[in-house]
Amino acid sequence: MALFPTYARNDIKLIRGEGAWLWDDQGNRYLDFTSGLGVCNLGHTHPGVKAAVHEQLDQLWHVSNLYRIPLQEQVAGKLAEVSGLDFSFFCNSGAEANEAAIKLARRYGREQKGLHRPEVVTFYSSFHGRSLATLTATGQAKVKEGFAPLPEGFRSLPYNDRDALKEGLTEQTAAVMLELIQGEGGVRPADPDFLQELERLCRDREILLMVDEVQTGMGRTGDLFAFRQAGISPDVITLAKGLGNGLPVGAMLGRKGLEVHFGPGSHASTFGGNPVVMAAAKAVLEELSTTDLLSRVRHTSHRLQTLLHDKLASHPTVVEIRGQGLMWGVELNRPAAPLLPILQRKGLLAVIAGPQVLRLLPPLVTKEEEAVHGVRIIEEGLQQLEEVVDGGSVSRI
Ligand SMILES: Cc1ncc(COP(=O)(O)O)c(C=O)c1O
Repeated sequence: MALFPTYARNDIKLIRGEGAWLWDDQGNRYLDFTSGLGVCNLGHTHPGVKAAVHEQLDQLWHVSNLYRIPLQEQVAGKLAEVSGLDFSFFCNSGAEANEAAIKLARRYGREQKGLHRPEVVTFYSSFHGRSLATLTATGQAKVKEGFAPLPEGFRSLPYNDRDALKEGLTEQTAAVMLELIQGEGGVRPADPDFLQELERLCRDREILLMVDEVQTGMGRTGDLFAFRQAGISPDVITLAKGLGNGLPVGAMLGRKGLEVHFGPGSHASTFGGNPVVMAAAKAVLEELSTTDLLSRVRHTSHRLQTLLHDKLASHPTVVEIRGQGLMWGVELNRPAAPLLPILQRKGLLAVIAGPQVLRLLPPLVTKEEEAVHGVRIIEEGLQQLEEVVDGGSVSRI
């Protein structure tokens, strides 16, 4: 394989997808509880997104951002309407959206607050991307290993620790960036009182509150954005993953007033917001804001939560079950990775989040009976894991 071995790849070749299902080249069918890592929220090959992209492919694929792009303006307008944040910058991934947010925070820190060394504060166990700035922002040592020297101007504080905030935010802090549910870090939700305190401190000290909604956004948690459920008003949010339902598009959204720090020449992305990905994003936004999909997500979420608790919580290996919407983590008392091939052989794809957490990210279109089917497989898989591991031969898995 002429690929850098950066991924520990599974040895199946997925070649077709529809809704919550995937097929490999051997004709095996899998229920997809990964959504391509939180991307294909509307399911694979969603007909509305497909039609919009097909139509756009016949019109125009790409023009430079040196010209006006009507679809981009429409998507930005829609995002402003549904988020309450006034301006969008489009890019191609979550890391790039967070890079844009970090750059904006530094400009804001210098130009608005007169800081000489503007700093962005993040939290332990967070994940913000793999570019040099975003891996430095990420609160996990393993993503930084071997990549020093790292950029300056980042510091991480303990997550959900109110007391640590007061001292941790300094005169040089320009922005705080956080996930409202830490995804890669183990599906860990922020405590409401921690968020309230954080928002209060940010307001008092004119620190930008930047919410990374790359994984939680676009319906994943049962609302269009997790910040709306948390009842906070961020200055900046970042999106990617579900925004294009599989086409690469990211966005940084910011409130009125911040646009002065991002004038012409300050930031750019050649492909950012090209007409094809904007057609996809427009169709995704239409689907999420004009249908009852989000209320169906809340219903499926409730059913999934009940099933997970009823069927899994009493297992000796299960430590905790947590999540929101269709983003769930099942924390085990042992490594979760050996469970994945067991589930895969039974026809379910899932991922892990941190060493001991099984992470479930089913598409938002997952039907109730599919959720039941998925949890049944997980229950059987856990039983098998317990038998094999307790029988002393992990290598047989
Ligand atoms: C919360 C969060 N932020 C940022 C990223 C990085 O996104 P990308 O891989 O598109 O660069 C991810 C990816 O998993 C994420 O979960």
